[in-house]
Amino acid sequence: MKTPPLPQLGHRTLFPELQSRVYLAHAAVSPVSTPVREAVLAVLDAYGQLGVGAFPPWIAQRQRLKEVIARLIHADADDLALVQSTTAGLMALALCLDWRPGDRILLTRGEFPANVTPWQQAAKQFGLEIAWLPQPRPNDISEWLDALRQALRAGHVRVVAVSAVQFQTGLQMPLEAIGVLCQNAGAELVVDAVQAFGAVPLDVQRLGIDYLACGAHKWCNGLEGAGFLYVAKQRIAALQPRMAGWLSHEDGLGFLFRGAGLLLHDRPIRQRADFLEIGNLSTASFAGMGAAVDVLESLGIQAIFDHVQPILDALEDGLLARSFTSARATDPALRSCTLSLLPPPGVDLLALHKLLTAAGIAHSVPDGYLRLAPHWPNALHEVPVVLAAMDEALG
Ligand SMILES: Cc1ncc(COP(=O)(O)O)c(C=O)c1O
Repeated sequence: MKTPPLPQLGHRTLFPELQSRVYLAHAAVSPVSTPVREAVLAVLDAYGQLGVGAFPPWIAQRQRLKEVIARLIHADADDLALVQSTTAGLMALALCLDWRPGDRILLTRGEFPANVTPWQQAAKQFGLEIAWLPQPRPNDISEWLDALRQALRAGHVRVVAVSAVQFQTGLQMPLEAIGVLCQNAGAELVVDAVQAFGAVPLDVQRLGIDYLACGAHKWCNGLEGAGFLYVAKQRIAALQPRMAGWLSHEDGLGFLFRGAGLLLHDRPIRQRADFLEIGNLSTASFAGMGAAVDVLESLGIQAIFDHVQPILDALEDGLLARSFTSARATDPALRSCTLSLLPPPGVDLLALHKLLTAAGIAHSVPDGYLRLAPHWPNALHEVPVVLAAMDEALG
């Protein structure tokens, strides 16, 4: 097997099959890099050749993966559970919190539904109350923070659920300030990190995050079917194992490999985040995620973020000059690696989307925005290509 070239900021040599001229859709789905592809193929080869013999090495691989994720978010590997997706992590949490009747959950208007639906379902199951905060505006975050303060003052808030980065505007939420407010009010902060992890630095300890869920297929550069949930150490003991399976028990695997007498049905459920690893996971997806996070770690998340900002600056300048309206925060601390814009008056976004896609500019159009999401393989020299395609599309 040839060794793939080393990842390098601004170069897409690890994406030799990528057809788009410029790929700006990392906020939607990441393309697959050579190391991810090779890791997935290695799983298929191993299972093809060895069957059950391929199983133990991949369990070890998952432990390594957790260690890398833990370093990237400043957590302990033991505080992570591998889950199938962002939603799977959030739903597990919503089921397992030790709710008290009348607990309130604060949700935010305009959030991606992944961090809404599980809480709405939990509210029905456990008799909880949902309260809504307004949609956060990139250039008036104090409005949202004031609403949060007020809602916390009203009392009984158990959970504040929010995305690290808003999926449509790209606004990076002020998590540190939110964390302090939650802590002072005795509320728990739950973060959907899928629009951040991989391109926006995250430090769960500094930010006072109690729980963080993330899937692998966006900025992490992995595949669907893999993700993780972080649970702060001090929150573990209170979780109720309402979601548990054969692999949730202490030494749940032993009876398969270490002889007779170990098949017990009363083994305790692990008091660790990984009790939420309830059964077999997608080995191929997690192998891909493992290769993806290795690339991210080798480049460094802060370096990736810093690399992307000038690309967004240039795209934003070019599109403002073409009468787009930018949703990007003017405060650099509230920016992410996503640039979202509203098209010029009279321009049909979906028609523009078709023309840009046909011109090889991969992007996405959530909730009425043109969303441009470059990542570490993108480069400044791609900006004129995008702007030329835009001029063509706008006629
Ligand atoms: C903020 C946010 N959360 C969650 C998701 C998806 O969740 P999942 O990984 O469960 O499919 C998306 C996009 O697809 C998103 O933008």
